[in-house]
Parts: sequence; C-alpha cells; structure tokens
Amino acid sequence: MHAVVARQAGGPEVLSYTELPDPTPRPGQLLVRVAAAGVNFIDTYRRAGVYPMEYPHVVGAEGAGIVEALGEEVTGFAVGDRVAWHSGPGSYAELVAVDAAGVVPVPRGLDLTIAAALPLQGITAHYLVRSTFEVGPGHDILLHAGAGGVGLLATQLAVARGGRVLTTVSTPEKAALSSAAGAAHTINYAELADITTELPALVRELTDGQGVHVVYDGVGKTTFEASLASLRPRGMLVLFGGASGQVPPFDPQRLNKAGSLFLTRPTITHHTLTRSELEWRTSEVLGSAASGDLDVRVGATYSLSDAAAAHQALESRATTGKVLLIP
Ligand SMILES: NC(=O)c1ccc[n+]([C@@H]2O[C@H](COP(=O)([O-])OP(=O)(O)OC[C@H]3O[C@@H](n4cnc5c(N)ncnc54)[C@H](OP(=O)(O)O)[C@@H]3O)[C@@H](O)[C@H]2O)c1
Repeated sequence: MHAVVARQAGGPEVLSYTELPDPTPRPGQLLVRVAAAGVNFIDTYRRAGVYPMEYPHVVGAEGAGIVEALGEEVTGFAVGDRVAWHSGPGSYAELVAVDAAGVVPVPRGLDLTIAAALPLQGITAHYLVRSTFEVGPGHDILLHAGAGGVGLLATQLAVARGGRVLTTVSTPEKAALSSAAGAAHTINYAELADITTELPALVRELTDGQGVHVVYDGVGKTTFEASLASLRPRGMLVLFGGASGQVPPFDPQRLNKAGSLFLTRPTITHHTLTRSELEWRTSEVLGSAASGDLDVRVGATYSLSDAAAAHQALESRATTGKVLLIP
C-alpha cells in the first residue's frame, strides 16, 4: 500500500509518500480501506516533534473508510461496514489497522468524505459546547478562528443551543464563512494593532460592557491574554489548542484578580473515555451531518501524495473548515 511517513521530526518536507507492506490487524483491530483521511493540527505536532513520537511513523489520526478484514476477538463489525475514527495512528495510508474500540459506524446516507471530516474536529466541537462549558440560551461566547475546522462546527452547535457567538477571523472571506455558520459578529483580529487590549474592548462593546461567559481558544499563544481579558466575572477560558504556539507558564493568582475566572485545558481523550461517551458524541455529530442539520465544510482536498502541501496550508492559516487527503 501507499502511505505518508514522517522520516524524522521537522517541517512538512520530512513527509514522504512511500510504499509499505499492508498492515495486519492485531486482535481487537479492524483493517480498513481508507476513503479519506482527515488532516489535523495534532498530525503536525507529531510530525514536528512537539509531541514526542518514534520516527519513522505513518502520519494521521483520523479517517473514514470500509472494513476490509477483522482481527481476532472483534465483535460488532463486519467486512464491508462503513466506519470512521479519530484515534487511529497511521491514517494517511491506503489501508490502516485501527482499534475497533475507537471506531464508529457511519450513518446511512452520509458520504465517507464528509464522515472523515468529523471525528476529531466534530467530537471536539461537541465536548466544548456540551461538556466543558455547556452552552445555553443567553450565553455570550467568544470563539477564535471561527472559520477553522473546529470553529465552523462549534459555532453551529453553540448557536443551535441558544448561544450568541462572536468569532475572530483573519480575512474577509473567513468572516463570511463564520457569519454563514451563525456567528452574530466577526472580528478581524489580524487588523488589530494590539490584540491584547483592542480585542477585549471590542468584545465588551458587543456585550453591554459585561464580557463573555466563555472563550473557546484554540489559537493559544497570540490570543490567550486577550481571551482572559474578554471574560465577565466567573467566566471560563477554555484553552483547547495552540495553533499559534503554546501558552507560557501561568500564575493561577491572576484568575482571582481578573474576576474569579475558570481556566481549563481540555483534550478529546478525556471526553471519549467510555464507549458510550464516544457513541453519544459521534452519533450526534455524524447524525446531524447526515440529516443536514450540521453543515460540514471541506475547505480543501489533497491527494495522499500531497500531504506535505496540506500540512503547509494548515500551518500557514491558508485553510478553512476541514482539510482531507484522498488515497
Ligand atoms: N484539545 C482537543 O481536544 C483538540 C482537538 C482538535 C483540535 N484541537 C486544536 O484546536 C485548534 C483548531 O484546530 P483545527 O483543526 O480546527 O484548525 P483550524 O482552526 O482549521 O486552523 C487553525 C486556525 O487557527 C488560526 N490561527 C491563528 N494564528 C495562527 C498561526 N500562527 N498559525 C496557524 N493558525 C493560526 C487560523 O485561523 P485565522 O486565519 O482565522 O486566524 C487557522 O486557520 C488547534 O489548536 C488544534 O490543535 C484541539
């Protein structure tokens, strides 16, 4: 089979499109023919060595495809099933062996390429809005990178629950996409001379001087201070990623002074701890995509051999919605 391997830690240029032996499913695993693999920031962190990895490794965590063979001890799946996953190492490949425990069925009528766009960013949007800070009517929300993969999905989920979503974006095109997803206001943070003071001032103007109940911040280093300053007393800063870099060490005493604020740094692993939790989130997200209630934007599709270009685009803010690789 063909696959994309990170030869060593480094930039997109360390990715090689290469031929490897077909994987053999171990007990508890499914062998899946990949219809589409999702491109995610975690793939770039692992490629770059930000998250420690062994090299060489086949890149990729997410995808959707058709079950080709079952390992021993697998129950509940059959050859030919349409499935999706978010935690399968080695998904940038024509074939992948994934643990059945982390695989979910794709609802009838949902295209496999759309299904591949959802497990990681969709579950993340779901847990942010449903569990980390449960959005309800009357909540004012600030969400960074509103036209990104998580951003477009989380906006729709928060608006559907009655929240009022303000987003940040870096271009007019991204502002239009974010508005179409339901954002009440978009702020072009790339135009601000001093984001740390100007963004909180704009957010307060848009919230009768109060500030927002919650900030969902996956941008990290460049937005963290502005996020903290945009909250109302007892508001929550949900730092869920670092697309612009990691946030430096932080003194918890600052939360006291800034208004008895809450700060959390959640991750998908702790929001899919049980099979029933995984099924709850994925059935809601994939189900609402299948019914048309959730609009899923695939902003760019690359062939598997162009994975380096896909990483380059994601890391340079050039993408919107989901980026997919097609074997
Ligand atoms: N904790 C979890 O469970 C979890 C799960 C999934 C993803 N994440 C995190 O969530 C964040 C968003 O993920 P995503 O896959 O949906 O990505 P994305 O939002 O589609 O892409 C990242 C966006 O961040 C913005 N950005 C601002 N400064 C940037 C910079 N210096 N470099 C790159 N991007 C920058 C860009 O939007 P603008 O051009 O509009 O600024 C960019 O398009 C990432 O940090 C990711 O690691 C966390």
